[in-house]
Amino acid sequence: MSPSPTAANSAFLAAARGLPVPHTPVWFMRQAGRSLPEYLKVREGIGMLESCMDPDLVVEITMQPVRRYGVDAAIFFSDIVLPLKAVGVDLDIVAGVGPVVAKPVRTLADVEAIDDLTPEHVTFITQAVQGLVTELGTTPLIGFAGAPFTVASYLVEGGPSKDHARTKAMMHSQPEVWDALMRKISQIASAYLKVQVDAGASAVQLFDSWAGALAPIDYAEHVMPHSARVLAQAGELGVPRIHFGVGTTNLLTLMGEAGADVVGVDWRTPLERGIELVGDRAVQGNLDPTLVFAPTEVMTERAGRIIETGRSAKGHIFNLGHGVIPSTDPDQLARLTDFVHAYPVD
Ligand code: CP3
Repeated sequence: MSPSPTAANSAFLAAARGLPVPHTPVWFMRQAGRSLPEYLKVREGIGMLESCMDPDLVVEITMQPVRRYGVDAAIFFSDIVLPLKAVGVDLDIVAGVGPVVAKPVRTLADVEAIDDLTPEHVTFITQAVQGLVTELGTTPLIGFAGAPFTVASYLVEGGPSKDHARTKAMMHSQPEVWDALMRKISQIASAYLKVQVDAGASAVQLFDSWAGALAPIDYAEHVMPHSARVLAQAGELGVPRIHFGVGTTNLLTLMGEAGADVVGVDWRTPLERGIELVGDRAVQGNLDPTLVFAPTEVMTERAGRIIETGRSAKGHIFNLGHGVIPSTDPDQLARLTDFVHAYPVD
């Protein structure tokens, strides 16, 4: 007889650990959010940061896609800049733009002015995670943090950036400021992940969304040691760690070596290549997020190929290669989830 289901023996955690699965687990980055009418309704008149700090709203928004799709994991509804806000950095998340920092970080004094994160800064996170874990039952919750490079980019540029030029300039011309900043963000990310796992999160994802902008040598020398420290500390918490970035074909091996149990692969990298590059680790991905706009049979044909390819990995968690696009039809994601669940595992 198979054991009764719990979050701990879920398909999602089994795949993350490279164990046999009853079906390919699936969840979607940005599964909560603007693609869902029920999200738009509860967010009416409430700012993004305000929403992230309201435990009842966080529980409701995180649950919405779980109820709708029956995905194999929930992702905690928050943002990578939320812990910065919690320690007192003056920033906002502007609709249609993203995070905007009032006073960009340029000097050592600017870095030193940012407080380390303690659990007392984020009691609302503890409360939300505890509430969620109760509500989720057997569905595992993924906690997350922004990785040092991606978060540094928002702090140094002051907002979203295409080329990350100021950030890279700091890396090369003010190495001591860069090092202090990366250590500061690493401390904040580690402490933030620990809060989420202590409150009941079953896995963590480190989002280094913009790492793909880096040459491998700069990633290896100036970024990887800091991400590795965050991942090592998360490893001590005993939960699987997913490490994700966009445009990372040339970094996937290093991102695995940084300490991940699962490496996210975006759609530009063929999954078989991603599997080769990450070595003895599970992979997550990698359907092009725009394929949900294709006819259902085109989308599912491509999804089927990804599942087939995923079988040769140590473990495979199905996901899109990046977040759900806001104009996505939720019914199409529901069909995709059902397709992945029904697809035979061997
Ligand atoms: O469902 C989920 O995936 C959980 C929620 C989540 C959000 N942001 C909610 C959000 C997660 C995991 C993030 C992480 C995040 N935030 C990343 C890494 C993931 C990635 O997409 O690469 C990054 C780079 C950010 C920074 C950020 N915050 C951006 C680029 C934006 C979008 C700007 C826009 O409006 O298009 C945000 C805002 C944000 N974070 C929204 C959501 C649902 C949209 C704001 C809204 O609904 O008003």
